[in-house]
Amino acid sequence: AKKAVLGPLVGAVDQGTSSTRFLVFNSKTAELLSHHQVEIKQEFPREGWVEQDPKEILHSVYECVEKTCEKLGQLNIDISNIKAIGVSNQRETTVVWDKLTGEPLYNAVVWLDLRTQSTVESLSKKIPGNNNFVKSKTGLPISTYFSAVKLRWILDNVRKVQKAVEENRALFGTIDSWLIWSLTGGVNGGVHCTDVTNASRTMLFNIHSLEWDKELCEFFGIPMEILPNVRSSSEIYGLMKISHSPKAGALEGVPISGCLGDQSAALVGQMCFQDGQAKNTYGTGCFLLCNTGRKCVFSEHGLLTTVAYKLGRDKPVFYALEGSVAIAGAVTRWLKDNLGIIKTSEEIEKLAKEVGTSYGCYFVPAFSGLYAPYWDPSARGIICGLTQFTNKCHIAFAALEAVCFQTREILDAMNRDCGIPLSHLQVDGGMTCNKILMQLQADILYIPVVKPSMPETTALGAAMAAGAAEGVGVWSLEPEDLSAVTMERFEPQINAEESEIRYSTWKKAVMKSMGWVT
Ligand code: G3P
Repeated sequence: AKKAVLGPLVGAVDQGTSSTRFLVFNSKTAELLSHHQVEIKQEFPREGWVEQDPKEILHSVYECVEKTCEKLGQLNIDISNIKAIGVSNQRETTVVWDKLTGEPLYNAVVWLDLRTQSTVESLSKKIPGNNNFVKSKTGLPISTYFSAVKLRWILDNVRKVQKAVEENRALFGTIDSWLIWSLTGGVNGGVHCTDVTNASRTMLFNIHSLEWDKELCEFFGIPMEILPNVRSSSEIYGLMKISHSPKAGALEGVPISGCLGDQSAALVGQMCFQDGQAKNTYGTGCFLLCNTGRKCVFSEHGLLTTVAYKLGRDKPVFYALEGSVAIAGAVTRWLKDNLGIIKTSEEIEKLAKEVGTSYGCYFVPAFSGLYAPYWDPSARGIICGLTQFTNKCHIAFAALEAVCFQTREILDAMNRDCGIPLSHLQVDGGMTCNKILMQLQADILYIPVVKPSMPETTALGAAMAAGAAEGVGVWSLEPEDLSAVTMERFEPQINAEESEIRYSTWKKAVMKSMGWVT
């Protein structure tokens, strides 16, 4: 059969903490034509440690590309119409590999990992001059969350890495760098780069000068020669060179021309290009980003200052304020994998619906401490308010409510920092398919929640950046190029007083979870 012609297509790799996806969009309408998703294992070698296998991550990308291309073939869509590929990724997760063999020298240390708690404490005591030394350059507090301390730990503890650094064989990267290097040829000329958004999460990057910061590298003891080149979020980094992988070989020669940390990608995918526009993405964690335009705004309420995007070599950089919540979708996976009270992630909605209330049960999923606005690494998860009446349905409901309460906390902080409260919340991410969650979110925020019909906004943003790159030019970043995306709105249905009572009880529960580890 003759293959249908659709106009230029753009692919996007979305490498998240829980899964990898490859998606292909029509650049004229943003219609999602085909995609494939593979779940990624997380290893917990010790209490508080979270690791992933970089090779498994890479192979999951190959598999997703292969399966998506197969599905396109079944739809009679010619894959030679794919003109560019974008990459979006879980941020901060740290990989060190050998540039001569292409082998990772240690597992990826995931952003959620807490092993560097003591490193963070001792570094905090050593901050030169004023306490603002790190924050004023990077927009970030010193925390286990960011790459610099993870890399410090690897350099201190992994002999193979120390040796490779001495022999000038080691490369460091966040997941974007690892993937782009591997997908552009690896040991055969792979491009070692990252983009400004991912660099801004390492705690080694000066967000004003947009360069690796020598003083920060000295402070953290990081050899600068292992760092990737920092590029804009939208430009051709290299061409796909993966003939060694029969699985993904079909895309050989296609430019990789978009790269954004997943939360920045979602901001682009939601077209939040104006000062004051914000989005909240419900993935493994939950991240509310508000575009602050060309200004770096520093928070007084526990939010991060981060690079939003820079869509081209000669384009200006935009900044964002970010409220980061470590555990959102991860709580569903925990109920599935650790408690076994659901068999699939979708089942949580069914359980919650059966009861429609948590019956006074509150669940603070502080599995990796608490991020914004508390930044308490010593917090741990609690489920409280239990009675003999409580059952798994109430716990499922409380888990969903926890995601909404955590969002309320970062939205409150955002409103205080920005001065103008958000009138509605634009949301996206896998969990937004859960209608109970969306309604609860509107009830708890007491403002409307607006979600796109296609929740894969992160991948869409990476595809847009790739398609808009100089030398590709198939995506204009105008609203008419998103005609396939429609919006659904959830209005608050409970009264403000009821919403406040629930929220203040949640805060009581949060206080109980804090300072748990001494
Ligand atoms: O900062 C961590 C974040 O990028 C992880 O995103 O989608 O895996 O929750 P996600």
